[in-house]
Amino acid sequence: MTDDELLDAARTVRDLAYCPYSNFRVGAAIIDENGNVHVGCNVENAAYPQGSCAETGAIAAMVAEGGQRIVTIAVAGGGTKRTGACTPCGGCRQRIHEFSDKDTRIIVKDDDGDWHTYTMSDLLPSSFHL
Ligand code: THU
Repeated sequence: MTDDELLDAARTVRDLAYCPYSNFRVGAAIIDENGNVHVGCNVENAAYPQGSCAETGAIAAMVAEGGQRIVTIAVAGGGTKRTGACTPCGGCRQRIHEFSDKDTRIIVKDDDGDWHTYTMSDLLPSSFHL
């Protein structure tokens, strides 16, 4: 699967986001070490902290479907608002880190179609691990 196709998968699942409180849709798509694709979208809740991010959903799907490593994760956010690229939030950076290695790529696309590609050390330098 190409980066373009993975971004398309993120944009497709973004349409399914449940986000009545923020109206900020986010989709994420992962390719794992077996070449399988896993997607997730943000799912909000009236009790705000109980909501979950798109990356969190995609990671949970990956693990439940037998994946252990993120080769590439694509994130597409904010389709209804012109917000620029949606890079993963701080908590999701740590979650992605758990299943990443030095070659893991995080790709984001902004509303104008510009792509940015990051590594985990770009997004979470001096990261915590046990
Ligand atoms: N959101 C994500 O799904 N991923 C991120 O990395 C940033 C934020 C969601 C959470 C919430 O539903 C909405 O975007 C606005 O913060």
